[in-house]
Amino acid sequence: MKPVTIKRLPEIIANKIAAGEVVERPVSVVKELLENAIDANSTRIRIDIEKGGTQLIRLSDNGIGMYRESAILALERHATSKIANDADLFAIKTLGFRGEALPSIAAISKMVMVTRPYESDIGTEIQVEGGRVLEVNDAGAPSGTYITVKDLFYNTPARKKYLKSIRTEIAHIIDYLSNVAVGFPSIHFKLFHNARSIKNWSQTNEIADRIADVMGDDLYKKLYPITFKNEFVSIDGYVASPETSRKSSSHVIFVNGRVVTDRFIHHAILEGYRGHLMKGQFPVVVLFMTVPFEDVDVNVHPAKQTVRFVNQGSIYQAIVISIQKGLAQTRRSSWKPIPEKNPQPIDNDHSNETNDPKQSIYDIPLHPTEVKPHMLKETISPIPYTHQQSLISDTSEKSAQHSDLHLNYRNLKIVGQFQKTYIICETDQALVLIDQHAAHERIVYERLNNALLSQKLPMQRLLLPETIELNYKQSLVFAEIIPELKKIGFEIEPFGQNTFIVQSIPDILTGKNIKPLIHEMAESLPDIKNTAPAQKAIDECLILTACHSAIRSGQTLSSKEIHELLNALEDCDHPSQCPHGRPTCIQWDCTLIEKKFKRIV
Ligand SMILES: Nc1ncnc2c1ncn2[C@@H]1O[C@H](COP(=O)(O)OP(=O)(O)OP(=O)(O)O)[C@@H](O)[C@H]1O
Ligand SMILES: [Mg+2]
Repeated sequence: MKPVTIKRLPEIIANKIAAGEVVERPVSVVKELLENAIDANSTRIRIDIEKGGTQLIRLSDNGIGMYRESAILALERHATSKIANDADLFAIKTLGFRGEALPSIAAISKMVMVTRPYESDIGTEIQVEGGRVLEVNDAGAPSGTYITVKDLFYNTPARKKYLKSIRTEIAHIIDYLSNVAVGFPSIHFKLFHNARSIKNWSQTNEIADRIADVMGDDLYKKLYPITFKNEFVSIDGYVASPETSRKSSSHVIFVNGRVVTDRFIHHAILEGYRGHLMKGQFPVVVLFMTVPFEDVDVNVHPAKQTVRFVNQGSIYQAIVISIQKGLAQTRRSSWKPIPEKNPQPIDNDHSNETNDPKQSIYDIPLHPTEVKPHMLKETISPIPYTHQQSLISDTSEKSAQHSDLHLNYRNLKIVGQFQKTYIICETDQALVLIDQHAAHERIVYERLNNALLSQKLPMQRLLLPETIELNYKQSLVFAEIIPELKKIGFEIEPFGQNTFIVQSIPDILTGKNIKPLIHEMAESLPDIKNTAPAQKAIDECLILTACHSAIRSGQTLSSKEIHELLNALEDCDHPSQCPHGRPTCIQWDCTLIEKKFKRIV
């Protein structure tokens, strides 16, 4: 084959190719126009969408606008007012910086741009089709910029084919706009779809108000501020108490003012919430991270939504710690019940195992060990529970929300026990139910954890060592974890092939049937080893130990025992959830009860 001739592509074709990267679907257009409007210091932004954005996207802003020459230039590739030199690229302070968005959008749509700077008497209207400027005219217009994008992908049929339903496309737009709106409360956002108002978020000075406006009314008064700063990052934002969790991922992350969707940050947030949510529940978190410009690369992907940090590990830790700090403020929130439509089985927490009715709560040491609970220590929290449970509050009844009342478990007035499973208590304002197993599980778990940290976990040597048979796969992993298990009080020796002998156990388990516990540990270990470091494996073993040693449901408790339990719960760092993330406590406030009885309407 002979050498071929290389030709420079005409700008219009080059723009069309670039558009393929910048504009994937209607939401990409919304994103780019929105970023431009924010960069232009707008305080009011209105977005009109027709047919999910496939037919029309119009964004109107009251920002600085453009003079005619700039407006024409803005449609050319790599024309930007936002960076001027190499150094700027490494200190990007605006949302846009490439000078690619407008020419890309214009290349694959029919675009009309009307713009007028405040100081100018007359505005400019530019009509573009498939990247070709058709007309430039004077236009009478309010100050700001109005960009209408019609017939997106009309000249790129392959891309058009990949568009999903109108509902999906508008859902993407709403999601994106919601995320951005959270970070810019001083901007009034309006969204219309097919001429119907979909969103309208007025200006506010309170970021928490905007978060609740956008992410759900149930968040009012349930958001706790977080703030953290070290040499690598400063983090501000809000965490919501675990009871306001969602069924799908629900956090908004800003890095240097830019919304990002980053798996690494997502992971750090979940790590911060570990032990507070059950599996399948997601926290509500808003993070504003500020990282020195030279330590973060936002130019990783054409969509500018992924970031790369120089100090990745330190930033991960910072997120985890700030979330944990934030959650420490929510520790007294109890759960508010909702009428469940389809009650689901909640727990496989052994609480229904047959119990020895004579066994007393005193069989399990409730008195604190000499170790003091540490607030905000980096405890290895548990892995959330596998069952989904819908205890999220009925958000419509704001007046009845007492779940943000911070309970003092020690001061609860005990009424009695219900079904030998729940402790009934009251406060001046509420009826409170405590799940005795979940509560005790939390107590034991924190005790074990504290004892582990102080390396003072009391052990009990078994008079008759217990022999355990595991399967081949389990025994491989189990053998590895034996030295770690010793730290939490299990002295176990391999006894050839798949057999192990348990010589000692944590004394908290004295009198308990040890075999099922070890089997459960062994069963859960392979999963853990595949996904997590040894620390997590140990944590899971601690949770299982707590679960097996905690008092069961079906066990009658004397009032002295209940007092003891409540006192110990009060001393916990995180009393409102069991180590699996299940609530230990739910409450009905008086107003809610009076409403149910129609005493008040
Ligand atoms: N709504 C607007 N108000 C005022 N100026 C605007 C507006 N939209 C675009 N501009 C101007 O047009 C220029 C080009 O916009 P474009 O979005 O193509 O590139 P950019 O924002 O600089 O970078 P990026 O491609 O990363 O978005 C901007 O730099 C800005 O000066
Ligand atoms: Mg831009």
